[in-house]
Order: sequence, then C-alpha cells, then structure tokens
Amino acid sequence: MRRVIAVANQKGGVGKTTTVINLGASLAAMGYRVVVVDLDSQGALTASFGYNPYEVRPSTTEMMLDSNITLAGILRGGRERLDVAPASSELLSAEYRLLKQPDRTHRLRHAIEASKDDFDFVIIDTPPNLGLLTVNALVAAGELLIPVKTDYLAMRGVRPLLESVWLIRDKINPELDLLGVLPTMYPAGSDHATAVVEELRAVFKNRLFRTSIPVDEAAAIAPVARKAAMDFKPDSPVATAYRRLAEEVSDALR
Ligand SMILES: Nc1ncnc2c1ncn2[C@@H]1O[C@H](COP(=O)(O)OP(=O)(O)OP(=O)(O)O)[C@@H](O)[C@H]1O
Ligand SMILES: [Mg+2]
Repeated sequence: MRRVIAVANQKGGVGKTTTVINLGASLAAMGYRVVVVDLDSQGALTASFGYNPYEVRPSTTEMMLDSNITLAGILRGGRERLDVAPASSELLSAEYRLLKQPDRTHRLRHAIEASKDDFDFVIIDTPPNLGLLTVNALVAAGELLIPVKTDYLAMRGVRPLLESVWLIRDKINPELDLLGVLPTMYPAGSDHATAVVEELRAVFKNRLFRTSIPVDEAAAIAPVARKAAMDFKPDSPVATAYRRLAEEVSDALR
C-alpha cells in the first residue's frame, strides 16, 4: 500500500507543518514506513528534523527542477521508519523557474512514482498559498487533509480552498479525495471553538475527523528540540491527539 497525503490550507499558521510532523511520527510508531516531504521554502519541517534549509542539498528544490531526481534520491534519515525530503530556501525562486516547464504541475507526482522505495505513507507539507507547489502536492496526492484552526475567521477560508481543490480534481487529478478536515489549536473549554467544530461537522459530516488537536505548548516547543511531540512529551495532550488522528487515518485508508 502506498498512500500520498497532501496537507494543505492557504491560510498560514493553522498547523499544517505540526500535523505533518506528528501524524508522520505517529504512523511510523505504528509500524508504517513514512516519508514526509517539505514543499515550503520556509523549511520549518526540514528544520524540525535538524537540517538547515539554507544549506541542505539536494532538496525538494533540485527535485522539482530536475526531472531526473526522484523522491528517493533526496531522502534523509530522520527517525525510525520516518524519512524526510527536505526543502531549501531556494524553493521560493524555483517555483518561478518551474512556471516555464511544460510538466510543471506533475513534477512531484513523477518524482514520487519514480522512487523504487516502498513507503506506506508519503505526507506532503505545503506552503500557505495555492501556488504551483501546492498544486503539485494536490496532483501527486490521493488524499487531502485540511487542518483548520478552530476560530470563525479561519474556518471561512475553507470554502475557497475546496473550490480550487475540486477544480484540480476535475481538470488534472480525478483520484484526489478529501481524507478529512482536522480542527487544530482547539482551546479547551472554549464555547466559540466548540461552535466552530459543530459548524464544520454540519458541513463536512463524516469528513470531519473525530479527533481535534488541542492548544498545547508541547506542539510549539518540540520542534525546537528537533522532536515530534510524541517523542518530546509522549503524554502531552497534543501527542495523544495526534496518535488518535493516526489511528483514524490508518482505519480510513486500510
Ligand atoms: N496544537 C498546537 N498548540 C499550540 N501551538 C501550536 C499547535 N499547533 C501548532 N502550533 C504552533 O503554531 C504555529 C503555527 O503552526 P504550524 O507551523 O504547524 O502552521 P502552518 O500551517 O504550517 O504555518 P505556515 O502556513 O506558516 O506554514 C507554530 O509556532 C506551531 O508550533
Ligand atoms: Mg508550515
């Protein structure tokens, strides 16, 4: 089995990178072989594995620009059963160079397909926009996971995101499916956040994950120690929540 999951939301700071790290680490702990792919020139995912986005090479920059470089060709060891395809800061300018290439929307898809290595899950972290890199992730993926911050304004960005996603499904990638919408940064005991989750439930029904990710500073501190929350503080609320999410994802895709 190989599942390719894109984690996307054009809104910044909603928990995309945190979800990629912690879902990846949880699935690896369950015994799956996982690759996480950094498609964001900010390189937050890359840095959380201890690699410097200003120095790391080869990276997704080279992979996206050179069709001879496969995903397997840029992987670095991270943790047990968990490898990372790092991003370099040059990915930002690479996106413009990519604009001129004829197969610009399919580069990532081909790089994943060409890797002989056998992974169970490839999880792609995307930048906070719907540019060409995010389009590559949506073309490469079979599944889309959308983290949504549990506040009313953040929730309103989901509709335009889905309109773009379905456009890509209709025009380029008919296999793309909504794996689920994930409420993130849920403040315990907040009536406002509870109302937002209820509203999301009414819209997305069983495509809203049962798990919500709580606000927990362990999520913010763990990357500084170059760890996933489950390794940094295994009993923290955020680690527990991401383990539950991994169970849901594994059940849904079995
Ligand atoms: N559950 C949480 N509790 C507390 N802080 C969190 C939680 N999840 C993420 N954070 C923190 O919030 C900030 C934004 O999270 P993250 O980087 O995962 O979002 P993002 O959507 O990837 O952002 P960007 O769009 O800039 O790439 C980070 O500082 C992160 O550590
Ligand atoms: Mg991010």
